Amino acid sequence: MEDLRFDGGDTSLIIACAIGAPPFILHWGVRLSEGVTAQDIARLSTRQGGPGGADTPIAVSLALEAGLGLLAPPGVAAHRHGTDWGSRFDVVSVTKTDNSAQIFCADARTSIRLRYDIAVDAQTGVVTISSTITNDGDDALDIADMATACLPIPRTMTDLIGFSGRWSGEFQRERLARFSGSYCRENRRGRTSHDSFPAVIMCEATTGEATGSAYGLHLAWSGNHRVRVDSLSDGQVFASLGALLMPGEVRLGAGESFEAPAIIAAFSPNGLTGLSQNFHSHVRRNILRPATRAKPRPVHYNTWEAVWFDHDVEKLKAIATQAAAIGVERFVLDDGWFGSRRNDLSGLGDWTVSDAVYPEGLTPLVDHVTSLGMEMGIWFEPEMVNPDSDLFRAHPDWVLEVKGLEQVPFRHQYVLDISRAEVADHLFTQIDGVLRTHRIGYIKWDMNRDLNHPGDAGGRPRAHAQVTALYALIDRIRAAHPGVEIETCASGGGRPDLGILAHTDRIWTSDTNDALDRQSIQRGASFFLPLDVMGAHVGPSVCHQTGRRLSIEMRAATALMGHMGLELNLVTEPARDLAVLKEAIALHKKHRALLHNGTFFRLDMPASLNGVGVVAVDASEALYSLAFLSGHAETRPDRFRPRGLDPVQHYRVSLVWPSDWTSVSSPSVVEALDLCGEGAVLSGEALMQIGMQLPLTNPETVLLFHFQTVASGDAH
Ligand code: GLA
Repeated sequence: MEDLRFDGGDTSLIIACAIGAPPFILHWGVRLSEGVTAQDIARLSTRQGGPGGADTPIAVSLALEAGLGLLAPPGVAAHRHGTDWGSRFDVVSVTKTDNSAQIFCADARTSIRLRYDIAVDAQTGVVTISSTITNDGDDALDIADMATACLPIPRTMTDLIGFSGRWSGEFQRERLARFSGSYCRENRRGRTSHDSFPAVIMCEATTGEATGSAYGLHLAWSGNHRVRVDSLSDGQVFASLGALLMPGEVRLGAGESFEAPAIIAAFSPNGLTGLSQNFHSHVRRNILRPATRAKPRPVHYNTWEAVWFDHDVEKLKAIATQAAAIGVERFVLDDGWFGSRRNDLSGLGDWTVSDAVYPEGLTPLVDHVTSLGMEMGIWFEPEMVNPDSDLFRAHPDWVLEVKGLEQVPFRHQYVLDISRAEVADHLFTQIDGVLRTHRIGYIKWDMNRDLNHPGDAGGRPRAHAQVTALYALIDRIRAAHPGVEIETCASGGGRPDLGILAHTDRIWTSDTNDALDRQSIQRGASFFLPLDVMGAHVGPSVCHQTGRRLSIEMRAATALMGHMGLELNLVTEPARDLAVLKEAIALHKKHRALLHNGTFFRLDMPASLNGVGVVAVDASEALYSLAFLSGHAETRPDRFRPRGLDPVQHYRVSLVWPSDWTSVSSPSVVEALDLCGEGAVLSGEALMQIGMQLPLTNPETVLLFHFQTVASGDAH
């Protein structure tokens, strides 16, 4: 038997690749020693023939195609005018390097080829797998369904964690017991969506943050998708993820190919946090641009919630002055600087600086910002157009639509068909023009509506092509302006996947700046995204999205645990709040190398508490955030057991935020151990095993604890 084997981190992946048979995964999961052979696994996997079914067992192949005869939901389904539907993709050849392989499959009967590209990260074992289908026939081939791949999951993974949510409430987790049949989440919004982050986690019933096995699968794609887990009646369980195709959307002419987006999948025997650590490491080393990673992430100021559409150069200059004074490093001018865009009814698509608002152009503001030592950033929403715009008046035929139907109303805007070369060229020229004529180092790239009617001028669906065209347009701008960083935003976290992140540098996690909601959103995002890409801003004291009033200390601490920014009117904020913000920014800068490069941990705690932290790679230092979300059930709150410290080291522990904190009732550990003063020196082992009794704390408070190793002579 031919087989492919990869070992990386705690994971082994072994794929049966016998020539002339469909490829299938023999083992994906816990790392096996060299002595365990594919043959052993195949022999152990010989299954009992089942009555009432096929006489020979049929393994779940990577494609789960109809010709397999398994009668499970198909992974790849294609046909030629209703014929050639019964393909079976047998391995023709395999090529392999140390940590990647290509499996070439074909079906001569139906004249279709299928190729799998597989890479396994040696450090984490994270698997990246994509597939490409090619029409070798003379007639057109319709791709009805195309899961990128189907991956078997051990039956012991009886729990499933899915991701749901809404606008301003992204990355919500739903943990349920796997059931027989199909768990399926479909997204048809034309963007990644707020409500169906394209991922699923499978784990044991007992898996928690620190222990137990877990599998995580993510589709690196920013459009329509399907995430499913199927439990068959014969006991086989598999997950399949892929782009969700519209009817007739992918029709391949002779010799044409379709590339399915990559699945990025990880395994960890070390709980859900171990799984996230694998994803974070992979994102940092293999997805983000090294140039972005090499620099500290500048603290942002974003104008949106401060001024909305009410742009005024002098007002913005005053805000910029204040921002620089409290430590901001990048000033991002949001929506409202261009065309007739004085509200969301008009001007979208006209990417020229508004004479009415900026009579001398943007340069005076850009000069002011840069003279203060900050970088200038700017907002675009390139894929969209208001019907009331010069662009739409000139090119009404450039929008996606279903001819003869009214557009579905959605923020007064339509979607441009950016897969048309002339549309993409026009957008490139507009954006390039703004970047060429101003000292701008950053783009916030927004996208604020679903694709309800994604039809092109010829009547064909273009949702998939729109995403491919988006990636190409961003890449073109990046190539022309390699120093410009780009943030992906879609009404907050509507486009936060690892597909777009390969073309951008930062994710706007959510439109809500409500720190209480953000605790949950950012915890959810951390399953796949490291803190350095997670945009987190301090909003005003009364949150615009929820009306909730939260202290500046809580708001600042919540934003500090991400890529920090501000989004409130600094000119009207009370002086005390500005002073607190200044301290929080300084604290973020002090620890951002740790936050943005260290190892991330989520703690298992009661629902009233959110405990997360980051530990330096050499365990010399750690910063933990304990958020008291609501009242605690018992008189005394829980113990705090940091993870990831070195058990044989001693650490100086201090409470570094809020800076002037006193506990609600004395005595408490804070005074007893002088945590707000000198701090206390404690052993890493004691801290992790015994844990510290948390002080009595009011709800809606975030405490930040810092741990620093001390030389052994200072240990007591
Ligand atoms: C979206 C974004 C916001 C802001 C507005 C501007 O809602 O998520 O951050 O940029 O658009 O219109």
